[in-house]
Amino acid sequence: MSTKEINEYYDSTENRAVREDLIYALSLVGEERIAIDCGCGAGSDISLLRSKGFEVYAFDVEDESINRCRKRFKGDDRIHLSKDDFSTFTYPDATLVVADASLFFCPPSQFDHVWSKISHSLSSSNGVFCGSFLGPNDTMASSDYDKEAFWPEVTVFTEDKLREIFSGFKIEKWEEHKVSGKTAQGMDHNWHIFSVIAKKI
Ligand SMILES: C[S@@+](CC[C@H](N)C(=O)[O-])C[C@H]1O[C@@H](n2cnc3c(N)ncnc32)[C@H](O)[C@@H]1O
Repeated sequence: MSTKEINEYYDSTENRAVREDLIYALSLVGEERIAIDCGCGAGSDISLLRSKGFEVYAFDVEDESINRCRKRFKGDDRIHLSKDDFSTFTYPDATLVVADASLFFCPPSQFDHVWSKISHSLSSSNGVFCGSFLGPNDTMASSDYDKEAFWPEVTVFTEDKLREIFSGFKIEKWEEHKVSGKTAQGMDHNWHIFSVIAKKI
């Protein structure tokens, strides 16, 4: 995405509606409230998590995301922001990991390592994962996907492969979404997304 498109995307998602999945995931977390928001974008999930009493560690690869969040949450010392990608971020122990439409863009060569770090960060607390993954029928998964359209690399999962990475978790909610429509830029798009909420066992 160009800088202009990234700005437009963050403008449009800064105060987006809270996803029901995240509300459900919060209900599964115990008293200790420490969350990691992976690929936090304009910070809408950070805002919800703070309103529910979480200490939040959030990162994103885009300067624009982190700069916006620094302004937005200035003075809140229970929000820890860092400009990192999935593989460079230091994952603290947490009771909730959120990855809303962001792990799509984890380069395939990094995914296993990143997933092991996410899984490990939830281990000591029977923590909850809430996030989404790209399925093979998504436009972004096709070989002629325009790499300039969003972020350049994507990791794609078949349902079987995705279930494998959750072998150390209890699945609390699993949904597959297949929808066709237009992107905010007016391009035709087929969405194929798995939304997963799971608890570490
Ligand atoms: C579709 S947006 C979702 C943003 C936010 N989670 C939300 O739901 O509003 C994807 C986010 O992932 C971030 N991202 C893309 N590649 C990344 C990477 N390799 N490491 C960390 N974040 C990345 C983007 O900068 C962007 O903010």
